[in-house]
Amino acid sequence: MKLFKLFYRAAAVAAVVAVLALAGCKTNNPNVTNNQKSTDMSTQQTLNEVADRKNFGPQHALMTTPQPCVMIATWDKDHTPDVMMAAWAGQYDYNQIVVSLSKHKTTDNLELTGAFTVSFADIHTVAESDYFGLVSGNDVPDKVARVGFTVTPSPNVDAPIVNEYPLTLECKVVSFADGILVGEVVNMSAAERILTDGKIDLAKLQPIVFDAAAMAYRSVGDIVGKAWGAGKVFTE
Ligand SMILES: Cc1cc2nc3c(=O)[nH]c(=O)nc-3n(C[C@H](O)[C@H](O)[C@H](O)COP(=O)(O)O)c2cc1C
Repeated sequence: MKLFKLFYRAAAVAAVVAVLALAGCKTNNPNVTNNQKSTDMSTQQTLNEVADRKNFGPQHALMTTPQPCVMIATWDKDHTPDVMMAAWAGQYDYNQIVVSLSKHKTTDNLELTGAFTVSFADIHTVAESDYFGLVSGNDVPDKVARVGFTVTPSPNVDAPIVNEYPLTLECKVVSFADGILVGEVVNMSAAERILTDGKIDLAKLQPIVFDAAAMAYRSVGDIVGKAWGAGKVFTE
C-alpha cells in the first residue's frame, strides 16, 4: 500500500515538475553528438541533437502528452456556478489531485469556498467543454446556463456538480500556492449509464484528452493491454 502511495506521489510530482520546469532542462545523453546542434529561440540556448530525432526545444515541448480535460466547477460569491477547463492536471496521491492554474474567476471562487468539483469532458460535450476553456465567468457570468448545462449542489463540499458530466470528484482545497492547486477528493460519484457491473467503464464514459501537438481534442481508444500484466511476457 505504502509503495503504491509513494509511486503515485512520485509520478505526480514528476509530472508537475516536468510541466513547470522542463524549460530549464538539458540532456546528459551520451548519444548526443556535438556537431548536431539547434538553437532554442525561447532561451537562446544551443541544444544538442540525437541522430534521427528532431529537437523542438522547451517552448514547443508537449510535456505530459496527452493531457486530461478536467472541468473544474465552483460557486461564485452569488452562488452562480462557474466551470473552467484545465488540462495541466493530474493525480497527486490516492485521494488528491493537482492542477496548475493561472488567475481566473475559478481561482477567486476557490479562495472563497475552499471547494470544487472535477468532472471529465467527453465526446458528447466537446463544444461546451471547450467553451468553458475559452470564456471567463468574469465576462460571461451565466456561462454554464448559456450552454444549457445544469448543476446540483454537492452534498459533500461547497461546490456544484455539473449534471451533464457523468463522472465527478468532489474536492476540498488542501492548498493553493504559486499557481498549484492541490485538492483532496472526498467523494467520487458516477451516473449509472457509465457503469458496467458497478464499475466505471471508460468505454461508456468516452472521455476526451487534449492533444497539444494538434491543438485538438481526441477520444480515448481501445484497451490494448492489461496494466501490471502485459509486461509479464518478459518475466516468464
Ligand atoms: C484545452 C484548454 C486547457 C486549459 N488548461 C488550463 C489549465 O490547465 N490551467 C489554467 O489555468 N487554465 C487553463 N485553461 C484556460 C481556462 O480554462 C480559461 O482561462 C477559462 O476561461 C477560465 O474560466 P473562469 O475565468 O470562468 O474561471 C485551458 C483552456 C483550454 C481551452
